[in-house]
Amino acid sequence: MAKHKYKADKMTNTSDNKEPSKPVYFSAHDIHAYYGESYIVQGVSINVHEGEILALLGRNGAGKTSTLRALARLDDPAVHRGEIWLDHQPLHHMKAYQAAQAGIALVPEDRRIIQGLTVEENLQLAQIEKPIGWTIERIYELFPRLGERRKQEGTTLSGGEQQMLAIGRALARDIKLLLLDEPYEGLAPVIVQEIEKTLKLIREQGITTIIVEQNAVAALKLADRAVILDTGGVVFDGTAKEVLDNEQLRHEYLAI
Ligand SMILES: Nc1ncnc2c1ncn2[C@@H]1O[C@H](COP(=O)(O)OP(=O)(O)OP(=O)(O)O)[C@@H](O)[C@H]1O
Ligand SMILES: [Mg+2]
Repeated sequence: MAKHKYKADKMTNTSDNKEPSKPVYFSAHDIHAYYGESYIVQGVSINVHEGEILALLGRNGAGKTSTLRALARLDDPAVHRGEIWLDHQPLHHMKAYQAAQAGIALVPEDRRIIQGLTVEENLQLAQIEKPIGWTIERIYELFPRLGERRKQEGTTLSGGEQQMLAIGRALARDIKLLLLDEPYEGLAPVIVQEIEKTLKLIREQGITTIIVEQNAVAALKLADRAVILDTGGVVFDGTAKEVLDNEQLRHEYLAI
């Protein structure tokens, strides 16, 4: 791909030749997706290893949300070409509910806490269908604030607590890949740090994550690897450290 000017990561693991090769757990290959006639995701490939956090970065309008939506198999944008594999299962012919059953969980930017339900009811609702993931008690151990507020209506929580609830609700299902769209948006730095800590704990428990963030510095601190998008294509694929060390790249695509 001509656009892919910093580094070309292939379907197999080439991102870090200091480490032995690990099989790719999640792989999106050459994804092309459209909103109606608008061609937005223009040949994106992303590989993630099991238990890894990948930061998906890029300027406003670069196509990050559209890419996450395509990976989660939502109707919009419609994927016209490409393959998506999660733990040996092909997702590219699936609808969103099937991809969710196969283990993809998208936490959208607006968090979608259900009105009229308490914190606990929001979590219970996620467990209506089997197989369930983490128990509610385990989610409260990860986010003690949610446990303290279990009887409170979810929509009355603070922004940070709502983000915790949205992540907790994803973990309540039996997931393989967590997709987070701007989890730090609108949150105070101290809350961002708290969520960062929990995302590390979630990684330690073996969950694989793709995080989209405007706060690229925070995302790169947390992530193992990074993919940078620009106008719907991949312009960098490598380690988070390579991005932090590459001033030109940061300046050109991330404005940091
Ligand atoms: N529903 C839609 N219909 C048509 N075009 C859309 C739609 N949603 C997004 N787009 C366009 O797709 C492009 C990528 O948008 P997207 O929201 O994926 O970017 P992003 O990287 O998430 O940006 P941001 O950092 O602002 O969240 C933009 O040009 C946007 O205008
Ligand atoms: Mg977005």
